[in-house]
Amino acid sequence: MLQTVKKNRIFLSPPHMSGMEMKYIQEAFESNWIAPLGPNVDAFENEIASILGVNGAVAVSSGTAAIHLALILLGVKKGDAVFCSSLTFVATANPILYQGAEPVFIDSEPDTWNMSPRALENAFKEAVSLGKLPKAVIIVNLYGQSAKMDELVSICKKFNVPVIEDAAESLGSQYKGKMSGTFGDFGIFSFNGNKIISTSGGGMLVSNHTEALSKARFLATQARDAAPYYQHSEVGFNYRMSNILAGIGRAQITVLTERITARRRIFDLYQQELSQLPITFMPELKNTFSNRWLTAFTINKEKTTITINDLLAVLEAENIEARHIWKPLHIQPLFKEYKYYSHDENSSFSGELFETGICLPSGSNMTISDQMRVIDCIKQVFSKLARG
Ligand SMILES: Cc1ncc(COP(=O)(O)O)c(C=O)c1O
Repeated sequence: MLQTVKKNRIFLSPPHMSGMEMKYIQEAFESNWIAPLGPNVDAFENEIASILGVNGAVAVSSGTAAIHLALILLGVKKGDAVFCSSLTFVATANPILYQGAEPVFIDSEPDTWNMSPRALENAFKEAVSLGKLPKAVIIVNLYGQSAKMDELVSICKKFNVPVIEDAAESLGSQYKGKMSGTFGDFGIFSFNGNKIISTSGGGMLVSNHTEALSKARFLATQARDAAPYYQHSEVGFNYRMSNILAGIGRAQITVLTERITARRRIFDLYQQELSQLPITFMPELKNTFSNRWLTAFTINKEKTTITINDLLAVLEAENIEARHIWKPLHIQPLFKEYKYYSHDENSSFSGELFETGICLPSGSNMTISDQMRVIDCIKQVFSKLARG
């Protein structure tokens, strides 16, 4: 019987090790620092803080944990409101629920696909009229593209509300020459397996408020009081990063620039090869530099009847992993009862991006021939369905 050989799977964003990771892991083993603390953790924190130009960083078990700690440090409690980008992964908003607070979702705008300053301003106006300002605003930098930080931060400043910058996807990106993740009172990063650099799982909380970071370290290690025995006066968490995983992070950080170059090259090739199709690539705002963590585009509905599901089905049949753009949180069943402010009165921009958008394989270790497989597959879908 004739057997078809399945082509190798092309993943969306697989881990890409540098080859130096084992050296740091080995050191951890040799010194028996097999703990959620240790020299690799300290060094990784210092290295991240120095790359970003911030006063300090706290290595934690995930980006989600970092967001949770930031909310606690800002005093977010039960019944408080927290404004949050709608077009993001659920992990951005879950910690708001951990605190018993209420997320209020803010739409995206076309120039960055990130939080709309106009929608944010509207949300603030209504909050003022209701006499209930949010305790914090979480601004996400989607797929590596910085949000309009100047406008957004100045609105938050006007109302004296602190900002948490969710830079989980944008390590190494810049906005007007300043590093992504350094615009708010707190910034958070993720080193999950699919991120631009990875520790397999992990995160980082960064800030210029060194006292708050000390408190974060305290909270992340079960909030142990300074006493000669185990004494606890407040709720703590087991959120620190292990010394072994921080070792992986130290090796990964040395290749961050290369990883960004590779992802940007991948974006450029997609754009060059697919520019004739009725699609629009995710923009890069003027004076910003995106790490292009994931290449994403939308299908122009006015010009074709091909849908994202058509594309995803053909790519999957070719053993290629691609994904819808995030389903906005304001239309997630989990968050259906919460408020949402849109960029335009009668439409939802994040909703449109979800309906028409796709993320393509963007791993920095993808070969050109694998990328050409993805490109050829997309071209075929458009030519076949356009004819058929
Ligand atoms: C935008 C965004 N925020 C938060 C997170 C949470 O990070 P982690 O998976 O490390 O908890 C992720 C990624 O996973 C993310 O993409």
